[in-house]
Amino acid sequence: MTKLKSHERTFVALDTSDLLQALELANALSGHVGGVKLGKEFFTACGLDGVQAVKECGMPVFLDLKFHDIPNTVAGAIKAALLVSPCMVNVHACGGETMLRAAVQSAEEAGEGRPLVLGVTVLTSMDESDLQKIGIECSVSDQVLRLAYLCQINGLDGVVCSAQEVEGLRKHLGKNFKLVVPGIRPHWAQNNDQKRIVTPADAIAIGADYLVIGRPITKADDPIEAADKIAAEIAAGT
Ligand code: C5P
Repeated sequence: MTKLKSHERTFVALDTSDLLQALELANALSGHVGGVKLGKEFFTACGLDGVQAVKECGMPVFLDLKFHDIPNTVAGAIKAALLVSPCMVNVHACGGETMLRAAVQSAEEAGEGRPLVLGVTVLTSMDESDLQKIGIECSVSDQVLRLAYLCQINGLDGVVCSAQEVEGLRKHLGKNFKLVVPGIRPHWAQNNDQKRIVTPADAIAIGADYLVIGRPITKADDPIEAADKIAAEIAAGT
């Protein structure tokens, strides 16, 4: 596999329901980041047509819809998503192994250019007491590892995880399992509502494959400059 250029590591999160704003940013940032991440906010407002319009700006799209349903429905949702040829899609790992396998099987219908299928393990908004209340009696890190392993043995390509989880997952699941990491803040950006943050260069250094970065780029006075700065920091490892 060819080594990624440093700007290709970043997927910019376009967390907006405004199609024009998304298109403006996607056009401006094309060539300065590796792709865009479109989630439930954008998708609920703008649908697959909106995703297609953003895609036409020329960048790969990570469609972050975190599917979680019965296997047949998840397979159908992924099949529908293939219409816009996303490079990554994701599902909740706690949907169970039949659902995970159905998701991968559906993605495989796209053939060689199929999207990576990623698992979502434990949402970073949840702590151990939240897990206990839904009947899970182990630590967050054990549950993350358990679900990431379930993803791996059922053919998923990787997981979305916090920077805190990267080293453990890399150690247990090997170098080919993709780790996609949000909660990234360059030292010059505001933390916003993110609490456990790491810098772009540190996240790559500890083993992340891709970074999901939103506001440090989208809310910057100059989003292109911010994206370029992040790429330069990753390249320099600082
Ligand atoms: O603006 P910011 O860089 O905080 O955006 C991060 C993106 O990653 C958002 O789209 C957010 O929903 C997503 N995300 C996250 N933490 C997770 C999972 C996803 O921040 N654990």
